[in-house]
Amino acid sequence: MAKAAPRYVCQKCGAAGSKWSGRCDACGEWNSIVEETPLAQGPAGKSLGQSRGRKLVLSDLSSKEAPPPRTACKIDELDRVLGGGLVPASAVLVGGDPGIGKSTLLLQAAAAFARAGLKVVYISGEEASAQVRLRAQRLNLADAPVKLATETNLRDILTTLDEVKPDLAIIDSIQTMWADNVDSAPGSVSQVRAAAHELTAFAKRRGAAVILVGHVTKEGNLAGPRVVEHMVDTVLYFEGERGHQFRILRSVKNRFGPADEIGVFEMTGGGLAEVSNPSALFLAERGAPAPGAVVFSGIEGTRPVLTEFQALVAPSPHSQPRRSVVGWDGSRLAMILAVLESRCGIPFAGLDVYLNVAGGMRVGEPAADLAVAAALLSAREDAPLPPETVVFGEISLSGALRPVGQTENRLKEAAKLGFSTAILPSGGKARGSKAMKLTQMSDLASFVGEVFGA
Ligand code: TYD
Ligand code: MG
Repeated sequence: MAKAAPRYVCQKCGAAGSKWSGRCDACGEWNSIVEETPLAQGPAGKSLGQSRGRKLVLSDLSSKEAPPPRTACKIDELDRVLGGGLVPASAVLVGGDPGIGKSTLLLQAAAAFARAGLKVVYISGEEASAQVRLRAQRLNLADAPVKLATETNLRDILTTLDEVKPDLAIIDSIQTMWADNVDSAPGSVSQVRAAAHELTAFAKRRGAAVILVGHVTKEGNLAGPRVVEHMVDTVLYFEGERGHQFRILRSVKNRFGPADEIGVFEMTGGGLAEVSNPSALFLAERGAPAPGAVVFSGIEGTRPVLTEFQALVAPSPHSQPRRSVVGWDGSRLAMILAVLESRCGIPFAGLDVYLNVAGGMRVGEPAADLAVAAALLSAREDAPLPPETVVFGEISLSGALRPVGQTENRLKEAAKLGFSTAILPSGGKARGSKAMKLTQMSDLASFVGEVFGA
């Protein structure tokens, strides 16, 4: 058989080419291209059409078979993010920074699914059995009926899984798996891709659910392979700020449920505890109204969540003033500063701007634009917003305020937590009540005039 031509694969973005180069054309990264042997080779020299394959079994779309039942593990925050429970024959990827608590979450999930009646196998490629057992003891799960193995050889793992026939297999982590038919180091794109491919194929073949753990890189991508995200049915990210106890499990892709759903947990001495009322938690440290602090009524997935934006604006000692953002999009901040400057005549030149979302939460909704603008203005003017006020609304480049979806839910959640005034764009279907007074405006300039009297 002819030797396969080598492929050169970027370890950052997964782009493959036939030539080595110092810089990846696809993502621009330097020194990231490595020679890899192709995955598998068919009979050499023939096109696929020449040698006949096996016939497929075709079935009707209108089959009366009931959809496979989901299994809920009774950890509500996890079940919701999965779209109501675990679907058989599905592959789930759980990504997150090292040390954020993925192994802890999955050990707790393993025990919960086992108690819900599934046959669960937990395979650790990172820790020794004794370490996993020690963690289980600490989490008070030592008597859970979970089968445990420590292995990294993919061939051996698949053999075991084919024999044991679990309903759920947890692989911690995909970067430690090693396929002996692939000629590159564990953790490389080819290895990770091969392992993800084999394990998802196992899930589909055997009707078992597979959960893969993946580490993310400094840049926030799953280490190496974005490709794995395309192979699996569901992608969850486990996030949180170091130094905060809160951890957020977020679905960024889900073939069996809504994406953008979040589950909130708190890391305690005895493992992860569910937080069923995240708004109360994120606002817990709030004191008296302070300049620069604004409460935003947001929607995460199907649930309203209140968070606090905090801004600090100070004269800059640098020629290039600082713009520092935690928990919100930096380019969106630049846009809001530009709109404030050109549509409302409020300059931020020569001022350092710091923006932070309290509690380690990350907000991605454009609906938070108005809350960000309010926090920036409040910090700049050193004037707090009226007490018990929530703010939401999208800002367009023209300075107009646009109504956002789920206004009713946002107002209801705010009222539930004791807020009595909402500042929001006019239009939309908002209705005030005795408990909630509405202040509606159509553009940012009138917001500035009304709230800050400028
Ligand atoms: P871990 O699940 O090992 O993280 P990952 O698998 O994502 O790398 O969690 C690591 C951190 O969690 C570790 O720093 C200690 C902390 N932790 C607790 O605070 N309480 C606990 O009960 C456990 C098990 C871990
Ligand atoms: Mg781990």
